[in-house]
Order: sequence, then structure tokens, then C-alpha cells
Amino acid sequence: MNNVDFLKDFPILKADEKGERLVYLDSGATTQKPIKVLDAIENYYKLNNANPHRGAYKLSIDATQAYDDAREKVIKFIDAEFSKEVIFTKNATEGFNLIASSYGMNNIDEGDEIVISIAEHHSNLIPWQIVASAKKATLKYMYVNENGEIPEEEIKTKITEKTKIVSITQVSNALGTINPVKEIIDFAHSKGAIVIVDGAQSVPHMKVSVRDLDSDFLVFSGHKLLGPMGIGVVYGKKELLENMPPYIVGGDMIEYVYEQEATFAELPSRFEGGTQNVEGAVGLGAAIDYLENIGMEKIDEIEKELIGYALNEFEKLPYIKIYGPKDLNHRGGIISFDIEGVHPHDVASVFDSHKVAIRSGNHCAQPLMRYMGINATCRASFYFYNTKEDVDKLIEATKKTYEMFSKWR
Ligand code: ALA
Repeated sequence: MNNVDFLKDFPILKADEKGERLVYLDSGATTQKPIKVLDAIENYYKLNNANPHRGAYKLSIDATQAYDDAREKVIKFIDAEFSKEVIFTKNATEGFNLIASSYGMNNIDEGDEIVISIAEHHSNLIPWQIVASAKKATLKYMYVNENGEIPEEEIKTKITEKTKIVSITQVSNALGTINPVKEIIDFAHSKGAIVIVDGAQSVPHMKVSVRDLDSDFLVFSGHKLLGPMGIGVVYGKKELLENMPPYIVGGDMIEYVYEQEATFAELPSRFEGGTQNVEGAVGLGAAIDYLENIGMEKIDEIEKELIGYALNEFEKLPYIKIYGPKDLNHRGGIISFDIEGVHPHDVASVFDSHKVAIRSGNHCAQPLMRYMGINATCRASFYFYNTKEDVDKLIEATKKTYEMFSKWR
């Protein structure tokens, strides 16, 4: 099981003077930051801060180097081939907006179909509603079964010759399901569609290779991967990005500007208009170093053990309903659950009094909740810095919460 030594790297997770520490089980929303990431950001401002790409002086060149180095780390981390293929964005939401506005609006025509799953985060859903509506195309959904998994038949019947785009999460933020994205990509390609993978809940937790998947685009955010907020990544195959118009226009993304027209910079700058979040990129680079030092396989292994243990303990409590896959190999580090008779928001509040932080609500997946006939769930999401003791505290808080509300029945 997990080596508690990781906790020493995360100031916010250290025990207080009473020896108590926060059991943080909301890494699906954002992860905590190790000292190495915090130091990298501080050192960037202390030593290298200037506006990259603008100055001919050393400090600006240093800032450009720091920004470019971070991009190189991302490229290696996701196994991309070219530096042109990695674009920094503000977050995953901006990444989907970029692809939908630039690729979607220019490649979808009337009668075409866009296919997503019912379990998508709103960020990978609303941009496609807008494209489909503007282009008189159809937005189709692959629905999940009672285990929160997409049956093969859904994939094979919903993705057809009419499909031009498939956009699918690799790990559901609401249910924890690991989708068979490689199989979906292969099948979609055989029908002539391109595939966008939402890696927000997968890239931080497992080895993801865009070349192995053969994904056309991959989107993820830095803050769910130990990095700071305000930095995200869009990976796109060079031949697709090269044919896409810019998304945010203005400073730094141009080649020549005339009174009535402009030409645009090469990739990736063409998609990075305005002063960029260099501290974010530097922090993300340091986060990648930290993760690679542990090893993504190890991280996956630690989380699988934690999840396996937690599910086993939850199973002993008859008043708990677990959503999502039963097969551990189909589940990422997320457990969505209900305590019978207690609203998820009440659960989260009572847990907080036990120093256990979880998320409650619809998890930015309202169509999924509606499809499942519920309004909300409780969600415990794990990362490698969690421990067996954290799971024990989660179970203890669950028992106490159930007992507390039982008295009012
Ligand atoms: N997308 C984040 C989550 O699922 C905020 O919690």
C-alpha cells in the first residue's frame, strides 16, 4: 500500500500541532501541490520573470527558455512527436472550446454527427451542443449501462459513417469509469471520424501515450496533475492543427499584421494569443518531473490498491450505494457513492467536521445524473498521496454520518 512519505512533500496535508491532518479526497477537483512545484513557481519569479518571446535581453530569453522547457516536458510526458503539437491553454475547458471553435466549426457540416458519451463533463459537452446547433449537425450520445460503462454495442451503433467527431473522456470524473478509448479511437477511425480524448482525469493518474492511443486530440488541465491552476494542454496531431484557424487572436500569435488583414505565427504560437501563463507552465513542468520521479505505473498501482481497499470496506456497509464499474481494472481513482437517506451535500458537510474532504453534487455532469435518475452523489477521489489511514477515516466518517442521520428517522 501507499508509502506515507509522500505526505511530507505536501505542506497543506501536514498534521497540525494536535497531530490531526486533512484527509483530502477531492483530487478529482484539484490536486494538492508538492513543495517542488511551489518552489519552481517561486524561483521562476525570483530568477527568470520577463515576458517571453518579446525581449531581446537575457531575462526575456530565460523566460522563453523556461516556457519552452515546460512544453518539452509535456511532449515527453504524453509521448507526442513534435513540439508543435502541444498548445498551452488556461484549462481543459478552454481546450475543448478551442477544438470545437476552430476544428469543429470548420469541419462539421449540415447532417454530420458528433458523438460523445452521456458521462461527459460539461466542458466536453456544451461546446459540441453549440457546434451542432450552429452547423445543423446532430449531437449523439453513447449511454452507459448500470455499471457506468459504455457497452460495445453503443459504440458500434452510435459511431457511423456520418460521424465526423467523437469526443470522449478516458476516465469519467463522475463515475470513475475507464473507457476503452483505444478501441473507440480505432473504430471511429475506421468510420473516418477524428477522436478527441478528455484526459483531465486520466493523464494525472496513468501512463497516457497519444501515439499509442493514436488520438487526434488530447485535452487535460495542469491543476489536476499537481500543477497550478490556470494552465492546461491541448495536444493535436500536427496535420490537423496546421489546418485550423486561430482561436484567440491578438498579441504574439501573428506573423505580419496589415491594416485590413494579418498572417499568423507557426504552431504552437498561433494558438497562444496574448501573454501566456509562464509560471503555470513552469509549475506544470515541475509537477511532471515529480510524477515521473515516482513513475506513472507506480501511481496507478497505489491508487488501484487504495480504491480496492475502500470498495471492500464500503461493501461491508449495507446502506452504501456505489456507482460505476465493479471491475477494478475499469475504474480510475474515483468512487461515487450515496449513504442511504442522507443527501450528498449533508454527507460532505458532516465529513468536513471529521476532517474528510469530498465533493458532492452533480460533478458538472447534469445529463448523466438525469439519465441515472439522481440529482447528486458523494465523490471520493484519490491520488497517490492518500493512504490506507485516509480510507479508514473515510469509512469511519461514513459510519458516523449514517448513525447521526439514523437518529432523525
Ligand atoms: N472537473 C472537476 C471535478 O470533476 C472540477 O471535480
